[in-house]
Amino acid sequence: MVSSHSRHMPVLSGSSGRELAIALAEILEMEFVLIESRKFPDGEGYVRVPSESFGVIRSEPVILVSNTFPDSGIMRTILMLEAINDIRKGDLENLKNEGEQVMDNVGPGIFLAVPYYGYARQDKRFSPGETVSARVISEILGRSCDGMVILDLHEPKVLDGSDLEIGFVSSMPEIADVLQKEVGPDFILSPDKGAIDRASEVAKIGGWEFSYLEKTRIDAHTIEHQAKDLDVNGKVVAIVDDMISTGGTICRASDALRRQGAKAVFAACTHGLFTGGALSRLANHVDGVYTTDSLRNPRSVVSSAPALARGIKEMIG
Ligand code: R5P
Repeated sequence: MVSSHSRHMPVLSGSSGRELAIALAEILEMEFVLIESRKFPDGEGYVRVPSESFGVIRSEPVILVSNTFPDSGIMRTILMLEAINDIRKGDLENLKNEGEQVMDNVGPGIFLAVPYYGYARQDKRFSPGETVSARVISEILGRSCDGMVILDLHEPKVLDGSDLEIGFVSSMPEIADVLQKEVGPDFILSPDKGAIDRASEVAKIGGWEFSYLEKTRIDAHTIEHQAKDLDVNGKVVAIVDDMISTGGTICRASDALRRQGAKAVFAACTHGLFTGGALSRLANHVDGVYTTDSLRNPRSVVSSAPALARGIKEMIG
């Protein structure tokens, strides 16, 4: 644990995580630093930490906000962490001979805040010959940071036994809040067993009824829900999940709810991936969709900064 920090402690991000990192810096009363990030014509990434911020990066623990999604985001995260590491190690030698070339190593103190942790769903070796991708990502990132805070990771157990200090945080309190203000649900549904903990937390916060469905995934695009009697006749229901990708899970759950008389059905999740026309598919099945800003999307109305701030405070004191 790092002892007390000052207001100058930097929260860094590349351009894609900028708004969220600014919001996080405000909550934590820290200083935001933008890392220059762009792509070469062939698609390879480039990052550069501004030299004006070297002082603060070397004198305070550092928080980097970055997603491991899409694949270019993984690479950008690694490059930003390594650039910060070089600065803290004092390894500043450069061809232009700008600034001081070598300085003292100021030691550990780099913390990564991950709003959306890509590859989370390959959390088991389902068939021989596969790798557990979710663990691979943390092993790679763990080489260049001293702690990591992850927002609503699909299955936190996958990182059990990691050498890296990892804090798991959730936006469910903020999701409960937006549902309370904008939907006023009677009933919260978890669309599968995996989301029970998260969805029931929302139900508990709002004092709403709760149940779950059992889902079988046939393939990435097809899922089946086992029939179950739900007491939803005439009720407003919100389906709560960690993420929405194709929207298949939510659409099938919504069909089950409507067959049983639900008056209105809403969906809420932390990570809105919305792949392959998911939003238009969802528009035919639910009355509204709410997500956090862990990923940029047209339905991100909930800030994930408060949840990440809780995790950072817990980790660095
Ligand atoms: C998986 O168990 C997750 O919690 C989500 O339910 C799932 O990833 C959503 O995917 P889709 O929107 O493609 O059904």
